[in-house]
Amino acid sequence: MQEDNKTNLGNNLVCDFTNEKSLYRQAHGGGRNQHLPRAIGMKKGHNPKVVDATAGLGRDSFLLASLGAHVMMIERSDAVHKLLEQGLLKASEFDCNTLKIINRMKLIHGDSKIILQSLSPEIIYIDPMHPIRKKSALVKKEMRLLRDIVGDDPDSGDLIELALKRATKRVVLKWPLSADSISGLVSPTHQIIGKTTRYDVFMINK
Ligand SMILES: C[S@@+](CC[C@H](N)C(=O)[O-])C[C@H]1O[C@@H](n2cnc3c(N)ncnc32)[C@H](O)[C@@H]1O
Repeated sequence: MQEDNKTNLGNNLVCDFTNEKSLYRQAHGGGRNQHLPRAIGMKKGHNPKVVDATAGLGRDSFLLASLGAHVMMIERSDAVHKLLEQGLLKASEFDCNTLKIINRMKLIHGDSKIILQSLSPEIIYIDPMHPIRKKSALVKKEMRLLRDIVGDDPDSGDLIELALKRATKRVVLKWPLSADSISGLVSPTHQIIGKTTRYDVFMINK
């Protein structure tokens, strides 16, 4: 689905890093022990540089930045990019601590398949739109609204292939636990398995 004539649908969607849920996750979420920071390789004392190639509403980037990572976020949808920009601005005015986190996040508008061609980041994180679940009522409202704007990401296989060439340390793919793997992709080096989601970690030997 091609968006951006669908920008008005984004009116129901907000990017808010300072809502209760986000602040709670920051304070009580489990720090670097959570699945995502573990998949990224956020060991104690090491604050990695990460490219989030599918920024979306920036929640995963915000989590990583709140734990000390420096995150370059890339989002190709005009509407979602705009929401993210607004969310970052609002959060930067919230308080000193949040401003420090936002200062570790950089937002770029564009297609990662093009932008990554001229970057060699240590770590690339990819969380494409997931295949539609049979039990669609279980899919969170926010995700349904996001899908209304951006549609599917049918080119995510190509994005991962490129990421595997450009990253110098690891590529991490977030994918539903029960979904078929993306076809043609090499097996991950290891996986971190959650209740509904898994992180496939591809270590790069360069
Ligand atoms: C599932 S959402 C990501 C959610 C995000 N991890 C979060 O925490 O909010 C996927 C997003 O990636 C974006 N996207 C997919 N492929 C992309 C690409 N090649 N370049 C840039 N953005 C892309 C989509 O437009 C969509 O906004």
